[in-house]
Amino acid sequence: MLESTPHRRNSFMPYVPIGGTPYVDVEGQRLLMMSGYSYLGLAGDPRLAAAVNAAVDVYGTGAHGVRALAGTTPLHQDLESEIARFTEREAALAFSSGYAANVGTIGALCGAGDHVFVDKLDHASIVDGCQLSGATVTRFRHNDPAHLDARLRAAGTDGVRLVIVDSVYSMDGDVAPLPALREVCDAHGALLMVDEAHALGVIGKTGRGIEEHYDRTVRVDIKLGTLSKGIPSMGGWVSGTPDLIYHLRYGARPFLFSAALAPAQTAAAAEAIRILDAEPQRVSHIQAESGRFRTAMADAGFNIGQSTTAIVPLIIGTDAQAYDYATTCREHGVVGLPVVTPAVPNGMARLRIAITAAHSAEHIDTAIEAFVAAAEQRVPAGE
Ligand SMILES: Cc1ncc(COP(=O)(O)O)c(C=O)c1O
Repeated sequence: MLESTPHRRNSFMPYVPIGGTPYVDVEGQRLLMMSGYSYLGLAGDPRLAAAVNAAVDVYGTGAHGVRALAGTTPLHQDLESEIARFTEREAALAFSSGYAANVGTIGALCGAGDHVFVDKLDHASIVDGCQLSGATVTRFRHNDPAHLDARLRAAGTDGVRLVIVDSVYSMDGDVAPLPALREVCDAHGALLMVDEAHALGVIGKTGRGIEEHYDRTVRVDIKLGTLSKGIPSMGGWVSGTPDLIYHLRYGARPFLFSAALAPAQTAAAAEAIRILDAEPQRVSHIQAESGRFRTAMADAGFNIGQSTTAIVPLIIGTDAQAYDYATTCREHGVVGLPVVTPAVPNGMARLRIAITAAHSAEHIDTAIEAFVAAAEQRVPAGE
């Protein structure tokens, strides 16, 4: 059993958004939220609320079944065609979460006798999907194509070989070295799958993710993501060839045996993708302001690791130190949520900051001042 500790007080903190702003109300205190995942700043957008209301008026609140039986509506078909179009693929499939998308896709593609290769920092839903699939799981060093090459060589040539990486790593904000990974995969006849959870709407000039980030010089075989971060709804997605999507429809167990996405969430997600497509300035704002934030924090002496994206870790030290720093930040008016072991290695606990399109330049300046002031309070000058 996990030991109860007062340091965990920053976890499970209930908060209420303050309409149309990046501020939240936490137990009566107005705080600037700097750890939210709603990258595109669309969570309170009235256009999404209108899409939700229209969907509920027609379809009610539930999908009433799995997609293969009574669960498919025109809303699901619309969402899947929007995902396919935006991610530049012929076909797509919507799952009930990003977690289910990873578990379902990996399990449908690999089984006993096959090999999956995962980056050491891949998301837990990838790791769980690999373990449940029954395939042999091999980890390679983070963002190290040469180590992947050695691992693939050692594994031999039997069965499916599937390499899975995050496009943007959720705890560190660094990007996968896609061109080198593609080269290694091609040399070994391996498939390459990316999880775009923190990339869709965030990297690439128009937010199309890792292929656009590398100027479309490389192509992945399977793209996957969530509808719960930049796209502020619920659900997960996979896009690829029509053959792949057909295979997943009947072979991905969390898709086949679990209820369809609710109509409200489906409609909100489709509308958010259309807005993302029409308003690429949201993406350029995230990229410009996160660059400014990273530079300011590094200049102020923070360890921000290898971040080059909207996710900026402020690496603090022990779990207790990160919890304490988060509490001090709240006293200075900002929310930076701590990420501790086992999500990150011992001694590398951090506040995981995410810059969004809802943060104006003034909000970012306020946050920089607060994080610096809180750090100075924690370690007084001269000590
Ligand atoms: C990289 C990555 N993949 C998948 C998921 C799971 O997505 P969802 O929350 O939609 O289940 C997450 C969520 O934290 C994530 O960060």
